[in-house]
Amino acid sequence: MVKFSFSAVGSLFSDSHLDVTMQTTADYCKMGHFPVLCRLCTMNPMLNIAIKAARRAGSVMLRSMDRLDTLNIQSKEKNDFVSDVDRQAEAEIIQILHHAYPKHSILAEESGSIEGNEYQWIIDPLDGTTNYLHGFPIFSVSIALAFNGDLLHAVVYDPLRDELFTASKGDGAMLNNRRLRTTKRKSLDGALLGTGFPFKQQQHLDVYLNTFRALFPDSAGIRRAGSAAIDLAYVAAGRLDGFWEIALNPWDMAAGALLVTEAGGVCSDFSGAGDFLETGNIIAGGLDVHHAITKAIQPHLSDALKR
Ligand code: IPD
Ligand code: CA
Ligand code: CA
Repeated sequence: MVKFSFSAVGSLFSDSHLDVTMQTTADYCKMGHFPVLCRLCTMNPMLNIAIKAARRAGSVMLRSMDRLDTLNIQSKEKNDFVSDVDRQAEAEIIQILHHAYPKHSILAEESGSIEGNEYQWIIDPLDGTTNYLHGFPIFSVSIALAFNGDLLHAVVYDPLRDELFTASKGDGAMLNNRRLRTTKRKSLDGALLGTGFPFKQQQHLDVYLNTFRALFPDSAGIRRAGSAAIDLAYVAAGRLDGFWEIALNPWDMAAGALLVTEAGGVCSDFSGAGDFLETGNIIAGGLDVHHAITKAIQPHLSDALKR
């Protein structure tokens, strides 16, 4: 009978999903968890650690949800807030990642950069802070690992729905135990799109509204969820056909972008090139919808937003 390593299993599931005191793969098979085990056996240890960190950050968020009015909140700049929960979630993530990989570099939204080797963790501990602070139930944890700038692993975790989106380069994207594919919609006709408003960079509002006008009439609707990582995860999951947003930061997009490409979709900056982590402007979708968004918004872009 095959023995299984429970340190890895235990970090991936809350206790309600799997009993980590079980002893053998046979026990799991009897319980109907065989597909879960197959995936665990082949999962990269770095992805496992990222999942553990994301789940820990998710617990920090859930624990504080019923005392939002007591949180210490500071304004970083106009419409950009940080709370104890963002900071505590980020500290927990960094502690877990650094304990496992002390030499890796880190780029984290609230604490900035830690220089290390060519592996870099890109962390948004709470994507959707404004939603979270208002009790609006859409927010996530976003963790990506890049090697020399190449995205290798990604986790986006929605703690309220216990939805764990993961991807590894060349290995596809998953939601919990289900493989993800972007939609194959051929055009904007009937497409459900996601977007984000430039509420922190309001100098782009007019241009943004023109891109909105260009996409709105053909689409089936446009959603603004308030967490770019969730938007991108939903494109990967085929819940949205496409997504575009102006002036994001790398930690908003890195994990979600790998989810999209590993689900068979495309991510680019506004010129159609792959520099979205640098420019902050991103278009994502299945191949044809991505192309249609890029083409439709092109005539409306200011010089500052051409890439
Ligand atoms: C924000 C969310 C939001 C997007 C903002 C981001 P934060 O991240 O992703 O959807 O529109 O531009 O800054 O500040 O909640 O981590
Ligand atoms: Ca963010
Ligand atoms: Ca954040």
